[in-house]
Amino acid sequence: MKCRVCTGLTEPVIDFGDMPIANAFLSNPDDNTYRFRMTTSFCSACALFQLDNQPKPELMFHDQYPFFTGLSNSMKLHFGELVASYLDNTLKKTEELFVTEIGSNDGTLLEYVKKRNIRHLGIDPSPNVVASSLKKGVSAEVGFFGKEFSKGVKNQYGKADFIFAANVICHIPDIIDFAEGIRELLDQDGQFVFEEPYIGSMLSKTSYDQIYDEHVFIFGALSVQNIFRRVGLQLVDAIPQNTHGGSMRYVIMHKNCREVSEGARRILQDEIDAGFENIKIYLDFAARCESRRTEFKELLSKLKSQGAKVAGYAATSKSTTVLNYCSIGSDLIQYISDSTLEKQGKFTPGTHIPVISQEEMRLDPPEYLVLFAWNHEREILAKEVALTKHGVKWIKFVPSIEILDI
Ligand code: TMP
Ligand code: ZN
Repeated sequence: MKCRVCTGLTEPVIDFGDMPIANAFLSNPDDNTYRFRMTTSFCSACALFQLDNQPKPELMFHDQYPFFTGLSNSMKLHFGELVASYLDNTLKKTEELFVTEIGSNDGTLLEYVKKRNIRHLGIDPSPNVVASSLKKGVSAEVGFFGKEFSKGVKNQYGKADFIFAANVICHIPDIIDFAEGIRELLDQDGQFVFEEPYIGSMLSKTSYDQIYDEHVFIFGALSVQNIFRRVGLQLVDAIPQNTHGGSMRYVIMHKNCREVSEGARRILQDEIDAGFENIKIYLDFAARCESRRTEFKELLSKLKSQGAKVAGYAATSKSTTVLNYCSIGSDLIQYISDSTLEKQGKFTPGTHIPVISQEEMRLDPPEYLVLFAWNHEREILAKEVALTKHGVKWIKFVPSIEILDI
């Protein structure tokens, strides 16, 4: 395959088979499911792990995009801290600032900017989440951000002092066009601050469920540095985050604006030392994914043979990869409960497991709950103590397959 960044040849890493769109929940299990071949590969020149094929963006981001950032309290708090740590330290006057967010979803992050009376604009391709942002009074426009789109924003609002993005940049296949858009829109001393699931965490936890249609790249500091360097921008900071099962915050500025931080230098060196530029660790990861699949399927089959009632907690995008890759259907997991109204009453993509509300699940809890939102473990276990007290046993599959002993 051709690398999406340098167009050089990539090396194959893992083939997950035919996959549906992670967020394409079915109203009727008989509905046709669109599938694409989900193979991944690695470009050693860019140190970049990538999806070879991706469905058309319009199939993934549309008026029924069922993901709303504001549903997670811990993410809300996280974004509040993120905004404060950059806006508290800026020397510019409030009335001079302009802040944008790419992939602004329901406006959860920008609401903190709005509260400071700072000019702002959110950009997101899904009209339904933009509507939800506007309802909060957070300005937002529908669109796919790239070089062309950035010109319109610059003409209307001027250059941006801060561009934020969280769990969005890895969704953008034409990343060079995107990076050029950032270069156009970012003011002279502006900062582009973005967070993404971290390749190092995915490798160390074997959290292969980070890989699904929307995540065309899984970044590390080396690959981010390589990408933005191509358009004359510079990685100046990298700060590890606990969100989404292990993420990295990257700060990008125009070239020669600021020294690369000590932290970023260390992370870049650690990645080189750990062999992130070489295919070997990715092939080792692929082998672990396969054994993890066997082990998970064996556990669920064993529980089934014992007549245990097993259900899932949170019909996450990530769960689509796990369920389809491991061929787990409603014979092994009876249902999945989820707090998103848009998913309730529907069926999981490709595997047709019914999705019900958390309330309905609590009326008659199962014996085992597979924690598909493992990245929100602390928030969920704290919220669901009553279930645990009731005797529900939690099953985790990241970083290893285990029945939690609480
Ligand atoms: P993600 O943030 O890992 O993509 O997963 C979000 C999904 O998990 C979304 O469908 C909502 C669901 N969820 C719950 O049902 N209950 C919860 O407490 C949390 C945090 C998420
Ligand atoms: Zn490349």
